[in-house]
Amino acid sequence: MELTQRLHVLVPAAGSGSRAGTSKPKQYQALAGMPLVVHTLKAMALIQGLDSLNVVVSPGDNQMGGVLQCHPSLSQVRVWPVGGETRAASVGAGLQALLDHGAAPGDWVLVHDAARCLIQAPWVEELIRCCRDDAVGGLLALPLPDTLKQADATLRVRATLERTDKWLAQTPQMFRLGLLQNALKHAGSSVTDEASAIEAQGLQPLLVRGNALNFKVTYPEDLLLAQCVLQARSQENPA
Ligand code: C5P
Repeated sequence: MELTQRLHVLVPAAGSGSRAGTSKPKQYQALAGMPLVVHTLKAMALIQGLDSLNVVVSPGDNQMGGVLQCHPSLSQVRVWPVGGETRAASVGAGLQALLDHGAAPGDWVLVHDAARCLIQAPWVEELIRCCRDDAVGGLLALPLPDTLKQADATLRVRATLERTDKWLAQTPQMFRLGLLQNALKHAGSSVTDEASAIEAQGLQPLLVRGNALNFKVTYPEDLLLAQCVLQARSQENPA
């Protein structure tokens, strides 16, 4: 895949994963024999035309180095111990690390949650194909399949919202590095994805249809589901 600008992947993995109910941060939770984040990084490493693969961990993280050493196919991964209090802070610090180490503001960056460990390179390559000539950039997302309810404070339904124009944002989200860094600086730490920061600049990211299996491991039951999918894939394609 030919791109004029370089293409970097940035994986924020500095969360504590408290909602997953696991004893350790969910990125290190064992899934089908490997830490969750290893599945994510191995899949991202297969993307055609990648210039660098980066992971952001919290400053006190003492696990990522050892985890990567056990997987020679991930020797190119650069680890940035610059994670912050929120996902947006971790991504912002990671972007700064890329710029400080040779990336250009016009380069593309694909930000992908460590916790979306079922990602497949062809899905990301479709996002790149759709966005590479776009002035803004875009994200993988899925049309909302269920009926959407708005709750009141007592957990009673206040309203049913129109669902036809609603999409669930996934990652990767693909933007130019300088544009994204500037957008995140202005948006502050409360945004939960990159696209929201870009939207706050008055721009409209492109929605590219993703896959339901690209869910974010968040709750305990997600770990079980991800494990089942990984096992089914390894039976289809034994190593
Ligand atoms: O917490 P949530 O599930 O939204 O996190 C999404 C991704 O952002 C995860 O991969 C998590 O490790 C990362 N994250 C981070 N720094 C934080 C919070 C979350 O890198 N402070």
